[in-house]
Amino acid sequence: MTEYTVTRLGLQGDGIAEGPVFLPLTLPGERVSATVSEGGAQDVRIIRPSDRRVSAPCRHFRSCGGCQLQHADDQFVADWKVDIVRNALQAHRLETEFRPIVTSPARSRRRAGFAARRTKKGAMVGFHGRASDTIVPIPDCILLEPSVLAGQRVAEALAIAGASRKTALSVMITAMENGLDVAVTHGKPPDGPLRQQLALICDTHGLVRLTWGDEVVAMREPPRHGVGRAVVTPPPGAFLQATAHGEAALTDCVREIVGDAGTVIDLFAGCGTFALPLAETAAVHAVEGDAAMMNALDAGWRFAEGLKAVTTETRDLFRRPLMPDELAKADAVVLDPPRAGAEAQVAELVQTKVPKIAYVSCNPVSFARDAAVLAAGGWQLDFVQVVDQFRWSAHTELVAGFTAPHMRA
Ligand SMILES: C[S@@+](CC[C@H](N)C(=O)[O-])C[C@H]1O[C@@H](n2cnc3c(N)ncnc32)[C@H](O)[C@@H]1O
Repeated sequence: MTEYTVTRLGLQGDGIAEGPVFLPLTLPGERVSATVSEGGAQDVRIIRPSDRRVSAPCRHFRSCGGCQLQHADDQFVADWKVDIVRNALQAHRLETEFRPIVTSPARSRRRAGFAARRTKKGAMVGFHGRASDTIVPIPDCILLEPSVLAGQRVAEALAIAGASRKTALSVMITAMENGLDVAVTHGKPPDGPLRQQLALICDTHGLVRLTWGDEVVAMREPPRHGVGRAVVTPPPGAFLQATAHGEAALTDCVREIVGDAGTVIDLFAGCGTFALPLAETAAVHAVEGDAAMMNALDAGWRFAEGLKAVTTETRDLFRRPLMPDELAKADAVVLDPPRAGAEAQVAELVQTKVPKIAYVSCNPVSFARDAAVLAAGGWQLDFVQVVDQFRWSAHTELVAGFTAPHMRA
């Protein structure tokens, strides 16, 4: 057993002492003892706690691996997340205005991926434990929307019906406007009797759709996801923003940056989280790598009333980014890439005169790298809005506004 002083938090939310030694669930300034081996720190005990330490609001926090940061007060977590973005930018010598962070409330996550294992007596459902493969039941989780939390009963029924004894099911449950949309992987291959059982579970639990592997085995009605004035049916398991609250904050910010643009190009558009609300005032060209998501966006737009033109294009933006001549018609560009960022696309964007860019990011490091390319091209980073829709996790999201060199006063 050795004593350590924690000096900072790492990007995964672990305390770090000199070495570096990673000390989970500790905070900067804390004096702790631990046994450290190649496998990591064991028996971590707090000798002198930080004054930012609080009792975790969720009773499952110690054992469940879902949350990383319930042991620090809310302001500490908020400041830490903003600093992650600030430091990532500073590494490229960039500074800007940071707006006050927007944090989603408890019980607002619209999606959860549960693990569900068949047991001798029935089934065990929950999240994976902290740094382990065991399944921890989480009946009182304070992260999830109540309907998603209640979906654990569905996961239990699904494991009893279709999990092998060796492999746990991954059960992704998403709250749609009209009920739960459930997508399962790692289940037994479906045969006739299993398909019948799954259809019965879909009916009994009032699910809107049940997908088993790649197959939609039952759909009582198309899942409805409201986006602005449109309603979209996302493909099973498709990307959606984590909370309605966070989505609204991101959309407000994107709208503000785009302003009165008449033509907008929305890159990495998904099912239209930004494209469809923006189409209330602008013609939008939406580009995305997943054809099923593009079809969902297009269908949502076709049935909506009062929207301007929305065109869609399925395209791999890493390999085939939009070229300057294709971007030239845009008054504003929105981009919301996956964690890798948008290196290839930004290399083209920086050669254009598009007046405004709204960059939505789930990875401060790749965002800062791309922001530096825009800044080197003369673009002004107007502000950053950090949005925390992954409350109590180490995850950080943001929207940033950029103005083109020729638009600057
Ligand atoms: C963070 S999500 C954003 C989706 C959408 N803007 C939203 O807010 O719902 C990133 C999107 O990029 C898409 N994507 C990932 N890699 C891509 C690529 N190489 N080319 C185009 N789109 C890609 C994903 O399918 C996903 O829809």
